[in-house]
Amino acid sequence: MPIQVKNLTHIYSEGMPYQTVALEDISFEIDDGSFVGIIGHTGSGKSTLIQHLNGLLKPKSGSIIVDGVDITDPSVSLRDIRKTIGLVFQYPEYQLFEETVEKDVAFGPQNLGLPEEVVSERVKEALELVGLSYEKIGKRSPFDLSGGQKRRVAIAGVIAMKPKVLILDEPTAGLDPKAHKDILRLIRNVQREEKITIILVSHNMGDIAALSEKVLVMHKGRLVMEGTPREVFSRAEQLMSIGLQLPPALQFTEALRQRGIELSGMPLTIDEVEREIAAWIGKKEI
Ligand SMILES: Nc1ncnc2c1ncn2[C@@H]1O[C@H](COP(=O)(O)OP(=O)(O)O)[C@@H](O)[C@H]1O
Ligand SMILES: [Mg+2]
Repeated sequence: MPIQVKNLTHIYSEGMPYQTVALEDISFEIDDGSFVGIIGHTGSGKSTLIQHLNGLLKPKSGSIIVDGVDITDPSVSLRDIRKTIGLVFQYPEYQLFEETVEKDVAFGPQNLGLPEEVVSERVKEALELVGLSYEKIGKRSPFDLSGGQKRRVAIAGVIAMKPKVLILDEPTAGLDPKAHKDILRLIRNVQREEKITIILVSHNMGDIAALSEKVLVMHKGRLVMEGTPREVFSRAEQLMSIGLQLPPALQFTEALRQRGIELSGMPLTIDEVEREIAAWIGKKEI
């Protein structure tokens, strides 16, 4: 399901003294089945942008073509868009409301009008995919779970709708390191098992570097950079000038370089740093 965003502009409270141009002339494309990371300082327009991708917000101008259909067209049904493009909001656990985990995850697929057996099958599958056991927690109240588990239940609710595109808005914000890891693992699992397009908004440059095939960089409502993680993170100065940092692996490499240890590649993850250091040690011994 390829997505083309063309000249998208969004203005909040247009015509009011406090109007905000939250998106300005944004254009990009997302390939079917790809993993796209979106980064940018707070207020740069990331959340506004992704809410357009599932029809929740309408642009002032521009279009969003999903599989050949312009979803900004008022005649396109929101239900059809939601069926194909799943959006996990920031802090999605605040939207849990049912008395059991099972009912909460079932809410989305039920709204799609699926038969009961299919819904129940999907609930089990989705919980498994996010690493939770239906037998253990299906009948429990979502409010009795840990923060990380609640968030996984909320994500399961979107996955249970079997979207072709899954968008996650800062899914690891506010989680402890273990819960953070669990969420990352689940995102990887979903992409591997479901082979869907994933769009991840995150402040965590390490995660973005490790997972994305393409990175979009937002600044003050504009798309200011676009490319592979290697292309984007090689522009350290430009990133820092807009309040963004490098992934930890690159920060570490830079610290080594300042101490006279020059690694040959551009390691984006800690695993890659490890390999580069091993190679460097190997060379020194020769
Ligand atoms: N509902 C809203 N009403 C008015 N202004 C908003 C609203 N939501 C966001 N904004 C403004 O739009 C800009 C982009 O915000 P947002 O998309 O939330 O950025 P990000 O997700 O990158 O932090 C900011 O200036 C923000 O204050
Ligand atoms: Mg946001």
